[in-house]
Amino acid sequence: MKKIILDCDPGHDDALAMMLALASPDIDLLAVTTSAGNQTPEKTLNNAMRLLTLMQHQEIPVAGGNRTPLLKPLETAGNVHGKSGLDGAELPEPDFAVQPVPAVELMAQTLRASAEPVTLVVTGPMTNMALFLRVHPELTDKIERIVFMGGAMGLGNWTPSVEFNIYVDPEAAKIVLNAGIPLTMAPLNVTHQAQILKPEIEAIGDINNPVAHAFYGLLNFFERYHEAPKWGFKGAPLHDPCTIAWLLRPEMFHSELMNVDVETQGELVRGETVCDYYELTEKTKNTDVLLDIDRDAFIRLITDSLKTFN
Ligand code: RIB
Ligand code: CA
Repeated sequence: MKKIILDCDPGHDDALAMMLALASPDIDLLAVTTSAGNQTPEKTLNNAMRLLTLMQHQEIPVAGGNRTPLLKPLETAGNVHGKSGLDGAELPEPDFAVQPVPAVELMAQTLRASAEPVTLVVTGPMTNMALFLRVHPELTDKIERIVFMGGAMGLGNWTPSVEFNIYVDPEAAKIVLNAGIPLTMAPLNVTHQAQILKPEIEAIGDINNPVAHAFYGLLNFFERYHEAPKWGFKGAPLHDPCTIAWLLRPEMFHSELMNVDVETQGELVRGETVCDYYELTEKTKNTDVLLDIDRDAFIRLITDSLKTFN
């Protein structure tokens, strides 16, 4: 049983990551914290609460995190995720209370209470993660690993060479990548392979439970943004669930260990993840970078997980 905290900015694909974690008997989701990214901090917090209400896991503590990136002003992605951040489905209003502490304190409480180290899964900008490392360095040894969706080895999706999560808070990403904690990175290189196709979305529409029905609506909305010919996609890339899928089924992926760092100064490339694939520097190989995925097995995991809800 893998104990995790999910720090997310729901966000359609964050919602799928949360669903995979909740559906699996091999993951113990100890807490959810939310970041500002896909939408404003209020909306991503409300979305996390609505998702846990929908999936009937109101026992999981939730706390909202930083309201802005460490240095940059907040930029959100309403063009991708809609006005609510989870457009496309009618989700229930939260029927439980948010924790009366900020994200970094819920992370600290959770790590202190755990007898064993906890895996931190980050599927949004890394602001909360960076702040936690700065506010509670004494708890670093309670972190098993940080598994994050973010970055790219090559083409970006927000500026030419920069992926959205790292773009929003490059300084936070630099702190996390240089903290000396074991890292697994799911960059666009692997998440763009993790596309769900329209017939597979339709098959989800045939699963007879309210969670699958909600995700059918969410996926149809999310897929529309990715139909633009410029992407060259056959479906919608499911970025964030690659993190949980790796925790559950690492054999589904091919990865390489290498140094990854973040450019925070470049006029054109601020937020670029610089991946030393060819070992051209002497820098520590700090990150296990996921590069390939068995897409069919990944989609089967998503679909089978949705079937487990009542
Ligand atoms: O670039 C993709 C990432 O940005 C995903 O985490 C998506 O949810 C958005 O946060
Ligand atoms: Ca996200």
